[in-house]
Amino acid sequence: MSSAEISKSLRADTVIRKFIFHDLQAIDGYIDPPDALVFLAILEHQAASGLGGSVAEIGVYYGRSYFLFRRICGDEERIVAIDLFDVDEHTGGSEQYARFVENGRRLGLPVREDLVIKGDSTLLDPHALAAKAGPIRFFSIDGGHMLHHVASDSALAAETLADHGIIAFDDTFNPTWPEVTVGVGDFLREQRGEFAVFCITKYKTYVCRRAFHADYCAAIAASADLSAFEHVETEFLGSKATRLENPMRRRLVHQLLVRSGMGIFSERAYR
Ligand SMILES: C[S@@+](CC[C@H](N)C(=O)[O-])C[C@H]1O[C@@H](n2cnc3c(N)ncnc32)[C@H](O)[C@@H]1O
Repeated sequence: MSSAEISKSLRADTVIRKFIFHDLQAIDGYIDPPDALVFLAILEHQAASGLGGSVAEIGVYYGRSYFLFRRICGDEERIVAIDLFDVDEHTGGSEQYARFVENGRRLGLPVREDLVIKGDSTLLDPHALAAKAGPIRFFSIDGGHMLHHVASDSALAAETLADHGIIAFDDTFNPTWPEVTVGVGDFLREQRGEFAVFCITKYKTYVCRRAFHADYCAAIAASADLSAFEHVETEFLGSKATRLENPMRRRLVHQLLVRSGMGIFSERAYR
């Protein structure tokens, strides 16, 4: 890489980190900076390695992860958003879908409404999803959190994923949602070794086809954005995975900066 290319890529990295640690925090939702950095590392690795395809997300809520995908992947890439969009009906609040679209307008990342699927993911025909998305390189599963949801959503992902694609399961090992972890274990065993876990964080488990396991493990190990975390080797149902540890000390510094109105500097806690 020339020095001009290096400084251009450093500038791009600074911009995306500001988006993760500052702009994205204004959107109600459930992806925190550590997993946002894992998404960044995986998507950048895929782009640099010519591992193309689209992105699909089950469980959009108000779009926190969706807008991260939009920001990292740019305007051209297909990002298919699947959700019931009915959470506010139970609370009498403003309509979920309208807030999602409005968030995109505010961030300057307009929602591509032709790529939104409103409905129950467990009833979604894989052919209908494939027709919208084409082969999927990154599939985020964060919809219904009961066993039948995870079973159905993971089967849908396996059917529509590009060979080199990855699945990110949310809320694994979270005692509030024990059936998610059972669902991921069932999926790995039912697939009889076809899929392997390559990374685990506090909130998510990342899975790819076994043929690409070494490739994604190497990408996680090499990512500068993930160097702030301790990388601990662990094993999960027959595959070696990197557990990314985020020490309490760093989480506290980050929270202090955010709560004292210095969120713009909170990114420094993760360098
Ligand atoms: C935890 S939120 C998702 C958070 C989001 N990924 C983020 O980054 O903020 C779960 C979402 O899943 C949606 N959901 C729940 N069950 C679903 C189903 N069966 N099909 C589609 N979406 C579903 C809910 O409407 C809700 O918006």
